[in-house]
Amino acid sequence: MNQSIPTKKPRVAILISGRGSNMMSLVEAAKTSGYPAEIALVIANRPEAPGLEWAKAQGLPTLGMDHKLYENRAHFDGQLTGVLQTAKIDLIALAGFMRLLTEDFVTTWRDRLINIHPSLLPSFKGLNTHQRALDAGCKVAGCSVHFVRSKMDVGPIIAQAAVPVHADDSADTLAARVLEAEHKIYPNALAMVASGRAKVIGEQVKIADAINQHMTLFSPKLP
Ligand code: GAR
Repeated sequence: MNQSIPTKKPRVAILISGRGSNMMSLVEAAKTSGYPAEIALVIANRPEAPGLEWAKAQGLPTLGMDHKLYENRAHFDGQLTGVLQTAKIDLIALAGFMRLLTEDFVTTWRDRLINIHPSLLPSFKGLNTHQRALDAGCKVAGCSVHFVRSKMDVGPIIAQAAVPVHADDSADTLAARVLEAEHKIYPNALAMVASGRAKVIGEQVKIADAINQHMTLFSPKLP
């Protein structure tokens, strides 16, 4: 008898710290038919994070884990792994989760832990990426989704998008343009990881059947 076995979608936990607009883009994408991942849990390390309320209103399981209530980083991260394992989480998507993770946590979740960062990595790791791009006179800015390694904003890059920097940009106007691109690439990148199309080979991400692994959101007209 030829019976097709239903394959279970990977269960994804999204970790946030604030407004959670990237989390919202992942949740909305996961509602579309054929999306290869299920959003199973949203956790915020700041219980008052506005994104957590939104996720709750969507009917998603949510959890506020106030990092200030834990002895240290290792204690918090250990408890976090416990919660994620109990919830049978397969993949973790950091979405504006503004906390460094311990090496232990990163090792436990190696190649199952992804992050979005508002710069074209490896440029501008860390904070204030948009002002730093403006100060450097960059003509292009963008965002990256990558697998997480123990160094901050380092790890195999899954997807990137570039946007133009306008002459009259402020950090805020540039951030808004980059954020729009973030909302496009993060659901795509998560889908590629969840479906097994994106794999880490030799610390680089290889995408099966990729025609173009990068989304360039503008094409400059060359003279
Ligand atoms: C996003 O721009 C995200 O890329 C950035 O924080 C913002 C969170 O916004 N993350 C980092 O800087 C991580 N290094 P959101 O809460 O609306 O998704």
